[in-house]
Amino acid sequence: MTTLRIIGLGINNITHLTIEGVEQLKRAKKVLYLATDPKGVEKLLKQYGVVSAESLQKLYRNLEQDETNYHNLEAKILKECCKSDDVALLLPGHPQIGVTLVQRLRAKERERNFKIIIIPGISSFDCMLNDLNRDPLEYGAAIIDANRLLLFEYQMEAAIDYYIYHVCSIGTSQISMQNAALGNRIDLLNKYLLKFYDAKHPVTLISSSTSSGVSSEVFTGSIGKLDELLPHIHFGTTLFIPGVRRKYLNKDYLALLQPKQGKDHVASTAVIA
Ligand SMILES: C[S@@+](CC[C@H](N)C(=O)[O-])C[C@H]1O[C@@H](n2cnc3c(N)ncnc32)[C@H](O)[C@@H]1O
Repeated sequence: MTTLRIIGLGINNITHLTIEGVEQLKRAKKVLYLATDPKGVEKLLKQYGVVSAESLQKLYRNLEQDETNYHNLEAKILKECCKSDDVALLLPGHPQIGVTLVQRLRAKERERNFKIIIIPGISSFDCMLNDLNRDPLEYGAAIIDANRLLLFEYQMEAAIDYYIYHVCSIGTSQISMQNAALGNRIDLLNKYLLKFYDAKHPVTLISSSTSSGVSSEVFTGSIGKLDELLPHIHFGTTLFIPGVRRKYLNKDYLALLQPKQGKDHVASTAVIA
């Protein structure tokens, strides 16, 4: 049975690749990769003695329908899995966050008789937490795809933080890699968010650094004026909406957390109070 090792590359060129990721790459007989820095990846793979490596970039075509790009990528990977019994697929970030291709391959695992192993990578989510200096457990946080938010009309809880992914392709299945404003229906997101937030509520459009020595891109705006952020949106930007600080506390629950004996309990209750 063929093993397909799907490895997270992280988002900062090759610097985020984990030791576990490198070990898995070295085991594979064929390596396929999609990366923002293909030259860096090529160099790294050579350094680790990986000889049979191939970029999949040419199959990800600008202005093509998403479905066609995914189909072509999937077909190529499955073909390689027929030719070799150990294939590695190196993908940006964490392979389990927002990667349709991985879900499609998972769906074919049994039918095509191959076994997927997923190696985590540092995701854009991890990096944004640092850029925003935000602990997702402080307010609670939701990570959500812009198109699914609008399609399923999820109810939003304004008290928690939201990380809205894929704002580069709102209302379109054909993304322009050069200009994400083309055909982008950010107006629909704008209208939807106004059901849950005040127009003045702040937002941050963020693209965490993808290259050492280059700063992250951070643009601030408001829910009512999302269109002003459109020129800054690209493939690697996420919209962050901070939660609204709640004044309400469940008094009964708070009582459970009150210190009962000694000072050992004081620290934990101080956080909530
Ligand atoms: C196809 S998903 C891939 C996410 C990737 N697997 C990860 O773990 O970060 C692409 C989306 O991830 C987010 N993203 C990718 N790179 C980013 C970055 N450098 N900073 C912030 N968000 C990023 C954007 O929302 C973008 O539309």
